[in-house]
Amino acid sequence: MKTNAGRFARRCAAAVASGVALLLGCGGAQSGVDRALQRMRDQPRAGAYGASPAFPDGMVMRAPPAGTVSREQVTDPATATGRDASGRYLDHVAPPVTAELLARGRSRFRIFCGACHGAGGFGGSVVAENLVARRPPSLRTGFAAALPPGLVYEVIRAGFGRMPSYAGQLPVADRWAVVAYILSIRDKSPADSAERDDSVRAAALRLDDSLRAAGAR
Ligand code: HEC
Repeated sequence: MKTNAGRFARRCAAAVASGVALLLGCGGAQSGVDRALQRMRDQPRAGAYGASPAFPDGMVMRAPPAGTVSREQVTDPATATGRDASGRYLDHVAPPVTAELLARGRSRFRIFCGACHGAGGFGGSVVAENLVARRPPSLRTGFAAALPPGLVYEVIRAGFGRMPSYAGQLPVADRWAVVAYILSIRDKSPADSAERDDSVRAAALRLDDSLRAAGAR
């Protein structure tokens, strides 16, 4: 045992030493390939925020030509704002509703909305239990389940009251995916155990609120 351990230690020491030698080798004598790479590494280059005599404005960074439209930019006003030409909130989901859009919406909803509005959108979350002043409402039943799709889109984009904006986390296509998903579950029974838990908790919260309002608590 002892000899084995000793041999192992010696081998390790040798391995470490050769590794160090390899590392040191990098700075030592260079092959032709090394020299070519080093030449590329050493050549003058322009940093993004540097100065450049090549352009009239003396800057390295170039501005996109006037009128350039980025590929991500949504140019259809109704899709971008959730409102029609007369300013009314859209009564439908702007992009075509597909199975993929709904699946995307469900996954985004559970990541970004479920923490407050409950995994199934019933409003039975731990956050809701503690946000007594203005609770995240059920999006599945009640007044919020009657809001026009364009308004739900706008709430995600801009936030509402105590709810922050989710524009940074959800680009336009994802916002509509979430809206489409919410519409698809309105007034429907819970689909799985996470949604059932949310619904039971939401019912308990409502009961608690009504008892409180009646002065029983
Ligand atoms: C941090 C908690 C939180 C998260 C996360 C959250 N909300 Fe809310 N939401 C709230 C609260 C609180 C309210 C009530 C705000 C008020 O009345 O001041 C609200 C209200 C709403 C309303 C009703 C607006 C109205 O006109 O009454 C909708 C619709 C809504 N949220 C949708 C969403 C969607 C969709 C998501 C996910 C993208 C989301 N929320 C994420 C907390 C949250």
